[in-house]
Amino acid sequence: MKIMTVFGTRPEGIKMAPIIKEIEKRPEIESVICITAQHRHMLDQVLKLFEIQPDYDLNIFKPGQSLTEITTRAIKGLEEVIIKERPDVLLVQGDTTTVFAGALAAFYQKVKIGHVEAGLRSGNLYSPYPEEANRKLTGVLTNYHFAPTDINRQNLLREGYPDENIFITGNTVIDALKYTVKEGYLFDNQILNDLDYINKRIILLTSHRRENIGKPMENIFKAVNDIVECHEDVEVVFPMHLNPKVRDIAKEFMGPNSRIHLIEPLEYEPFTNLMAKCHFVITDSGGLQEEAPTLGKPVLVVREETERPEGVESGTAKLIGTTFEGVYNNMELLLKDKDEYNRMAKAVNPYGDGRAGERIVEILLKQIKF
Ligand code: UD1
Ligand code: UDP
Repeated sequence: MKIMTVFGTRPEGIKMAPIIKEIEKRPEIESVICITAQHRHMLDQVLKLFEIQPDYDLNIFKPGQSLTEITTRAIKGLEEVIIKERPDVLLVQGDTTTVFAGALAAFYQKVKIGHVEAGLRSGNLYSPYPEEANRKLTGVLTNYHFAPTDINRQNLLREGYPDENIFITGNTVIDALKYTVKEGYLFDNQILNDLDYINKRIILLTSHRRENIGKPMENIFKAVNDIVECHEDVEVVFPMHLNPKVRDIAKEFMGPNSRIHLIEPLEYEPFTNLMAKCHFVITDSGGLQEEAPTLGKPVLVVREETERPEGVESGTAKLIGTTFEGVYNNMELLLKDKDEYNRMAKAVNPYGDGRAGERIVEILLKQIKF
């Protein structure tokens, strides 16, 4: 059996890695790895950590590309590789433009498609944008839907997909986390090693969503800055996404504050170990909403809606929106109210047991007759 994995951004790389590692263990499977490199530097960090050597690198990265450019360049490059390799199944992961382009290119060649992390829905086509649309468009073309949770499966059933094509597997991000988080981890980064994780409260911040760029992101960063100014024992670490629009807003609203550390994107291993040591997380990321509950870290989600309700239902995640007051007041509550903090800071694992990669490969071996 020949399985072609396609991915293009940092989170897809992190979540596809456990599947690739599992495929490598099976001599009966031929693996073809194709990256679009929609992200360059941030994806290369992931490839290095997981020791993944792509067979094809479409290198479509260009700073500031439009969604149309990313989509068309990815489809064009993928078409050639799919025609040459003719895999039995092509796997895509998540909700980026690479995912939709990969599914469409495979469909045009009548190659079967497996969608990893299928069935997530926010219910709002414009938030997250364009990810909600990418998920739905990919779903239509998919033969094997690998749903992390039963909530995801129910979303797919509601949209009319047959139950026999849906498989609950857990999320491969938990597999990846198990690979990286270690007791007594030491950072290479001097700033992170010098932080006082015992006497100070270290908050981990990330933000990159397109729909937050502009006023919402300004509100978030201004609220974070004001909170830090009011609490002497609080410091913030923000590993900045490489999108220059995000970086400009961060520098304007938080740059002058010496207790807010604006640093370069971290490799996955130090990043997850930082998460394991921090007091709480504030983010608009998808992946962090899965990782923080697993590590028992409260996570304030700076978005209007989420396609990951499991963390919210279990009490570890809280959806706080993007107004200045909403962000400020919720951070203040979590810093001042010990009961609130303790209620949220419990490890729950709605996203799987760390064996999703293995399950997905087993299912493919059973499903695809060759
Ligand atoms: C992309 C995905 C988003 C995903 C996110 C994960 C799309 C449309 N968006 O968003 O779903 O949640 O990745 O991080 O698929 N840049 C670099 N180097 C890099 C990566 C990005 O310089 O390694 C800069 C470039 O200027 C680039 C910009 O960031 O133009 C935005 O990158 P892009 O891939 O278009 O979207 P993201 O916001 O990263
Ligand atoms: N991450 C990382 N380094 C960082 C920031 C995030 O390795 O500096 C990891 C994080 O642990 C998670 C993934 O990148 O697994 C999330 O990526 P991002 O927030 O860019 O995308 P999303 O999950 O929102 O699609």
